[in-house]
Amino acid sequence: MELHLKNKVAIVTGASKGIGLAIVEALSREGAHVVAGSRSSTPELDALRDKYDVTVVPVDLSTADGADSLVERAVDRHGRLDILVNNLGAGSPRPSFLELDDSEWQRIFDLTFFSAVRAGRAALPHLLKSEGAAIVNISSINARLPFPMVVDYSAAKAALTSLTKSLSEEFAPRGVRVNAIAPGPVRTPFWTAPGGFADVTAAAAGTTAQEAIDVVVPQSMGISTGRVTEPHEVADLALFLASPVAGNITGAEFVIDGGQIKTT
Ligand SMILES: NC(=O)c1ccc[n+]([C@@H]2O[C@H](COP(=O)([O-])OP(=O)(O)OC[C@H]3O[C@@H](n4cnc5c(N)ncnc54)[C@H](OP(=O)(O)O)[C@@H]3O)[C@@H](O)[C@H]2O)c1
Repeated sequence: MELHLKNKVAIVTGASKGIGLAIVEALSREGAHVVAGSRSSTPELDALRDKYDVTVVPVDLSTADGADSLVERAVDRHGRLDILVNNLGAGSPRPSFLELDDSEWQRIFDLTFFSAVRAGRAALPHLLKSEGAAIVNISSINARLPFPMVVDYSAAKAALTSLTKSLSEEFAPRGVRVNAIAPGPVRTPFWTAPGGFADVTAAAAGTTAQEAIDVVVPQSMGISTGRVTEPHEVADLALFLASPVAGNITGAEFVIDGGQIKTT
């Protein structure tokens, strides 16, 4: 399918690893000019920068001015902006709601929700000048399926899903489509980094992190396909939603979870 993304200018947040990195790669392969924001780069992101038109911007997007500087870099470099992918988000395994203080709640909301608020506010004046602009927010199934182990993250993702709908209502009539993707577990450092969710699941199940993500997670979470999602599968969906091919899709949330959620 021709996605008509050639020469589009796109910002991707949280771009150095995992889903963000996969989205940078997928957009680049389609011929888009990508501006990639994360605190640091990785060899994988550097390789994409060397191969395609990828601008790597070191930026802390949990801060008030991080989003402004990222958008400014994109517009300075390319003169316009067509696509914003709010991919940044973070959670940590929580033993109990009672152990979370205000500063931890604030940290997770800054990363997972306010990063998208601030990036949207900075980007929209430019997106409104583009023909067929789009925002894609990477939410989570936890927006509608909250778990105690990610109580703060789930609430922040629910807020992001709500923001998606509000922005769509205000800006779709003015030419900016806004959609969300809600993945179930995806094989990224979010799970596989030391101390991440795979380690915690492995410790509880008395197995290895690899076995936890390949077997325990799909079985215990009721993932019908029997496996977690791969980053490139989320990236392909993001690409479709960002493209003019999805020109009449807005205010929608697309679940990609291998059938984990059993209700419609
Ligand atoms: N993996 C899953 O199972 C899953 C499931 C559902 C939804 N999601 C959502 O998908 C999105 C991507 O998740 P992922 O699993 O790919 O995450 P990840 O592997 O943990 O990667 C996070 C990315 O964000 C960057 N980042 C972290 N803090 C940052 C900050 N303060 N400012 C700028 N960049 C920052 C990281 O780079 P630096 O550390 O260099 O900054 C990295 O590039 C998130 O919104 C997540 O909630 C993930």
